[in-house]
Amino acid sequence: MGNELIQISAATVQGSPPATDPALEKATAPASVAGAGKTFYIETFGCQMNVHDSEKVAGVLMARGYRAVESHDDADLILYNTCSIREKAAQKVFSRLGAFKKQQERAGRGPGGNPKIVGVLGCVAQQEGGRIFERAPQVGLVCGSASYSKLPDLLDQLEAGNRRVAGLSLEIDECFETEMTRRDNPFRAYLTIIEGCDKECAYCVVPMTRGPERSRPADRVLADCRRLASEGYTEIQLLGQNVNSYRDPGPAHMSFAGLLAGVAEVKGVRRVRFTTSHPRDFTPEIVRAIESHPALCDQVHLPVQSGSTRVLAHMQRGYTREQYMAKIDCLRGSRRPISLSTDIIVGFCDETEADFEQTLSLLEEVEYDQVFSFKYSPRPNTSAAGRVDSVPEEEKGRRLAILQERQREIQLRRNQACIGREFEVLVENYQPRLGQAVGRTTSNRVINFAGQPAWVGQYMNVRVTEAGPNSLVGINTGM
Ligand code: 5AD
Ligand code: SF4
Repeated sequence: MGNELIQISAATVQGSPPATDPALEKATAPASVAGAGKTFYIETFGCQMNVHDSEKVAGVLMARGYRAVESHDDADLILYNTCSIREKAAQKVFSRLGAFKKQQERAGRGPGGNPKIVGVLGCVAQQEGGRIFERAPQVGLVCGSASYSKLPDLLDQLEAGNRRVAGLSLEIDECFETEMTRRDNPFRAYLTIIEGCDKECAYCVVPMTRGPERSRPADRVLADCRRLASEGYTEIQLLGQNVNSYRDPGPAHMSFAGLLAGVAEVKGVRRVRFTTSHPRDFTPEIVRAIESHPALCDQVHLPVQSGSTRVLAHMQRGYTREQYMAKIDCLRGSRRPISLSTDIIVGFCDETEADFEQTLSLLEEVEYDQVFSFKYSPRPNTSAAGRVDSVPEEEKGRRLAILQERQREIQLRRNQACIGREFEVLVENYQPRLGQAVGRTTSNRVINFAGQPAWVGQYMNVRVTEAGPNSLVGINTGM
């Protein structure tokens, strides 16, 4: 799945920045609506899907008149959008709730004088359900990711004075559609095209926390893209737990490759990325679409999880090493220099040293540009939960360190091969202290180069002069 690509690692905590468009805030805070005058703070843990869910939740709140603030202290409603993919990520929210409880005992009222309301959203909410109310009595709202479409009803109940409300059904056949979405990045817009997961990977909580796959109609996705382009977004990142398992429920029955082509053809869209692809559903048509549409980026994230066919079978991934490599061969055979990234789990259940060696040999064979690697973390309600987690923690750590060192060498080698070449970058940031612009290539490489603040948001050409394992240094050669 690799629901984390560019990458906010699944362990990273993201505090949501304020709305980027003050006009949007003003336009959506009419005095007569339910939450008028109330404030909210939302903190996001985990993958891009979660980051984007938080943008949508923020949009729902702002449409009700709530105003976003940047700290717990100033908020009437505090929301934690949680991740439970690994145990550490899941624990984080409880330590946050604990710390917050102490603070609340000192000053337990929001800016409006009413008690602050705390909400737990996302995967931990789905997994723990009502137990959260017992473990953290200060929590008033628990809502799993599959129930976000019910959020307005839940807010109605909270606003009516109900102190404990929950949305936890997994029997959901709709997607989380919002009238308005707050977008926290001024250039790249995330756009969900499919929610949930129908795969049954033995280690993974996602099918349980996010429910079954639901795709959004292609005509609606394309209309969203046209609107985003007209608002000035030049990069669109299509999201889905298994983005390429997309099935258009609309009359056009557009394939995923067809949808990619459609999005790439929207006027004003210069870059399209998509994440995360599942190897089982990865077809040559996707590669053909990338070849014929320059706006589709030279980048595919294709989580392998292990290089050993034996482990892949235990993981219930639905492919062998050879079948995965056939997809890689198709990508490597493309006319476009498609950059590849992956997710890997080390120490899954009874992974042997020989299995692990297979994963290392796969790394050398594929030569990924980026790898997100994790120690296996047994999760409740997964089919692997009942199996023996036989690789000791220390050994998992050793394998992870070896794998990451090997990958560091590969990345350094691949990045050094870029020296002297010129790339078009989208300037995403400017670091005043260093006087440096930070840009990203179509292949998702980060390049730092001497620049100016006004360049942010522009596309520029940069020649690479130096390379490290994780980023490049260059000089600007023009617009
Ligand atoms: N333990 C460790 N890593 C996991 N992932 C998913 N579930 C687990 C788990 N139980 C990893 C996979 C997935 C990425 C998002 O997180 O590599 O692709
Ligand atoms: Fe990805 Fe498998 Fe988890 Fe589905 S079950 S989200 S395919 S890792």
